[in-house]
Amino acid sequence: MPQNLSPIDKAKYAAAKRAVDYVEDGMKVGLGSGSTAAWMVKVLGEMVREEGLKIMGVATSARTSELARQVGIDVVPLDEARWLDLTIDGADEYDANLNLIKGGGGSLLQEKIVATASDQMIVIADAAKEVETLGAFPLPVEVIPFGWRTTQALIEETLVNLDVLGRSSSLRLNKDAPFVTDEGNHILDLSLRRIGNPRQLSLVLNQIPGVVENGLFLDICDVVVIGHADGSVETRDINQGRVEHSKIDLVESDNLFADIAD
Ligand code: A5P
Repeated sequence: MPQNLSPIDKAKYAAAKRAVDYVEDGMKVGLGSGSTAAWMVKVLGEMVREEGLKIMGVATSARTSELARQVGIDVVPLDEARWLDLTIDGADEYDANLNLIKGGGGSLLQEKIVATASDQMIVIADAAKEVETLGAFPLPVEVIPFGWRTTQALIEETLVNLDVLGRSSSLRLNKDAPFVTDEGNHILDLSLRRIGNPRQLSLVLNQIPGVVENGLFLDICDVVVIGHADGSVETRDINQGRVEHSKIDLVESDNLFADIAD
């Protein structure tokens, strides 16, 4: 086991390694974004190269697209694939109903479109992402650059009447400049602390002019695969009401780690 892998990376890897069991030959697969999803893309690439797995991948960000191509996955645009069998992605928070906050990496718009166009969405995460109530993680909202300050003011005003604990927001920055998404938009991070009614919040936010999409993923995710640093994995399927425990052999994965660790 390479010494430089942190416990959190081992947990993310374990979740990714278990989640790819859901991928079958010939599937069209949505490829998530972020550090956990990057492990999944690397593991899938290894299966393509070493085991001859044949899949069509649809990336949820330019970064994932680049990584997927690098590791040998055939990447096509969503409009070519049209409808996907499965999407595997990370999350910033998930609750007991598998409602999510996503967008910490800034890819929420493409992630939501791809996940919604899939028969099944599987989230891969470490246990620290589980929450009783969504909202401790700032909620990312993608807004168009035109008049973003006005959009921000409208959002903060609207939040007064909603079931949230905080209502401050900040423009996400990349160094000193506003962060720009793959679609050329900006992100406002909303410090809500607690989201009492995610459904209402999501609907209201998306009605504000200038808002493109928000990072609440409600009733989209079916399965969460939770990895731990010792290689143990818990898989919860809410549709089937099933919880499974398994173990990934991290020692056996040593070669793979050496091949794919950043
Ligand atoms: C990307 O925009 C996000 O939605 C990620 O899926 C989320 O931030 C989880 O990222 P990590 O796996 O890096 O924690």
